[in-house]
Amino acid sequence: MTTATTAGGPAAGTEPLVELDGVGKSYGNVRALHGVDLAVRPGQVTCVLGDNGAGKSTLIKIISGLHRHTEGEFRIDGAPVRLNTPREALDRGIAAVYQDLATVPLMPVWRNFFLGSELTRGPWPVRRLDIARMKRTADEELRAMGIVLDDLEQPIGTLSGGQRQSVAIARAVHFGARVLILDEPTAALGVKQSGVVLKYIAAARDRGLGVIFITHNPHHAFMVGDHFSVLRLGTLELSAGREEVSLEELTNHMAGGAELAALKHELAQVRGVDVEELPELEDLAERRPSP
Ligand SMILES: Nc1ncnc2c1ncn2[C@@H]1O[C@H](COP(=O)(O)OP(=O)(O)OP(=O)(O)O)[C@@H](O)[C@H]1O
Ligand SMILES: [Mg+2]
Repeated sequence: MTTATTAGGPAAGTEPLVELDGVGKSYGNVRALHGVDLAVRPGQVTCVLGDNGAGKSTLIKIISGLHRHTEGEFRIDGAPVRLNTPREALDRGIAAVYQDLATVPLMPVWRNFFLGSELTRGPWPVRRLDIARMKRTADEELRAMGIVLDDLEQPIGTLSGGQRQSVAIARAVHFGARVLILDEPTAALGVKQSGVVLKYIAAARDRGLGVIFITHNPHHAFMVGDHFSVLRLGTLELSAGREEVSLEELTNHMAGGAELAALKHELAQVRGVDVEELPELEDLAERRPSP
């Protein structure tokens, strides 16, 4: 593994928050993941790339406590762990933002920000929701991340996909995430909205979080990444720091460079076929068996 470094991370070189050492996962007979090494450091963006079925979701489910690994070692702050629930991951500061964000579309933005962790005031049994403080805090936290919304009273369902993603990122930061996992946050977004999300990924990094950014898109990864791990059929096909790889190489690894080369060779051969040698269309029609 390379000891990575950094385009922009303030805390580069510090100890990893999360570390995987030869981690694997089998679902019964299916070996979804095998021998994966990964390090997530504060103030850095670690990109996990790979094609469909490469094992990206399996990898982050292990880190976020949804699934348990069946091989290797998973360490948080240097200590080996085996997480049983997402709650256990959250308690250690590991938060995952999934594509189908768990928001209530008709509720206001500020209410969604505190969903499940509402602030209250007054003693029991007259405890009430502290609406004023929730609105103020949500507003402050969103602004701190550079997210400007006209009106926090508007239903979150009226925001764009990119804005909703950024509210989820700000929310995770507010509730004390040290490691932020984003599963394909730009997959369903257009160019401009993807830019919005990439900006907040950078903002989370600048606040010292370790970010794991899962994506199909090498261009998006290259814009914000400090380290790139490409998965292929459940194993690491590439693990490289920013200074060790170019966008072109990254794209090539993503596309399965060797397979593309073989395909090109085959196509060249096809093109080399002597067309004169091919049977005439009429001959083919004649030879077709009659029904
Ligand atoms: N619960 C499960 N039971 C059995 N096999 C599974 C399970 N989850 C995933 N797999 C298998 O593990 C492999 C990796 O799947 P995974 O979902 O991690 O890939 P992915 O990289 O996230 O793909 P995608 O880009 O399509 O989301 C696949 O072959 C998949 O069929
Ligand atoms: Mg997936």
